[in-house]
Amino acid sequence: MRLIRFLQRPPIVDSLLVKLDEKRLMKFYLGTNWKMHRTNTEARQFVAEFLPLVRELDLSSHYLFVIPSFTSIQIVRDAVTASGLPLKVGAQNVHWENGVEATGEISARILADIPVDLVEIGHSERRRKFGETDTDVNRKARAVLDHDLKALICIGESRAEKEQGIGTQALEKQVREGLEGIPRKALSKVMLAYEPTWAIGVAGQPADPSYVQEKHAGIREVLTSMYSAKIAAEVPLLFGGSVNHQNFRSYAEIVNVDGLFVGRAAWDPESFIELIKISRCMNASLS
Ligand code: PGA
Repeated sequence: MRLIRFLQRPPIVDSLLVKLDEKRLMKFYLGTNWKMHRTNTEARQFVAEFLPLVRELDLSSHYLFVIPSFTSIQIVRDAVTASGLPLKVGAQNVHWENGVEATGEISARILADIPVDLVEIGHSERRRKFGETDTDVNRKARAVLDHDLKALICIGESRAEKEQGIGTQALEKQVREGLEGIPRKALSKVMLAYEPTWAIGVAGQPADPSYVQEKHAGIREVLTSMYSAKIAAEVPLLFGGSVNHQNFRSYAEIVNVDGLFVGRAAWDPESFIELIKISRCMNASLS
């Protein structure tokens, strides 16, 4: 089904054709980060409403995930496990150390024991409000991968970098330093979410799809130069930042967009279900 997405969208980077067959088989990634949005009571309400709605959908072409606050992960995990649904559960952050002397932090060992399926690393709010650097992101990614969890690494240029015309360089630095020393074989557990910081949240300005297309192609090129065209084609590249029901299709149909990472528009169960339905319709019409 994804083959047609490729063929419809010139120009195609030749090297990417190498893995066309695998690309065709790649699921569409769709998930949400709750930030500090829900209490435990609200998390219970969410799963009680959301899971029965998910059950009605065929999700075989999707990788669907929810990332609650640390305190609600177990609630969501238990409900999802009991439901038997293929929904993935993630954590919003992790500390890179595995020892015990990091009061207030949560290690990959603790997360793996829940277990979570994926760990989000380097969201722009963590970089901006808590000073996370690319070195921190790299340490966290290694810790997550060492515990056999998926790492969802967020990258994105700031408004200032965009206005100075150095957005592409900023992104390349984030990809290279975030993945530094991570071996090829571990890349099968890495997902990247491109989220320009100026597009995120209530003050965010939705990015133009052509801008997203250009940036995703650039990220794929950086991965190609770091690893290989084959590996680069297999790393899911998600886009996020003010994704909503109106602009969903315009982003989802971009060649190098393998998924969407949604905030506000997916926080309400029915609203999230509507996004999943839009995505499923697109897949169906392309298969
Ligand atoms: P938004 O959030 O969709 O509400 O802009 C995206 C994010 O923070 O990842």
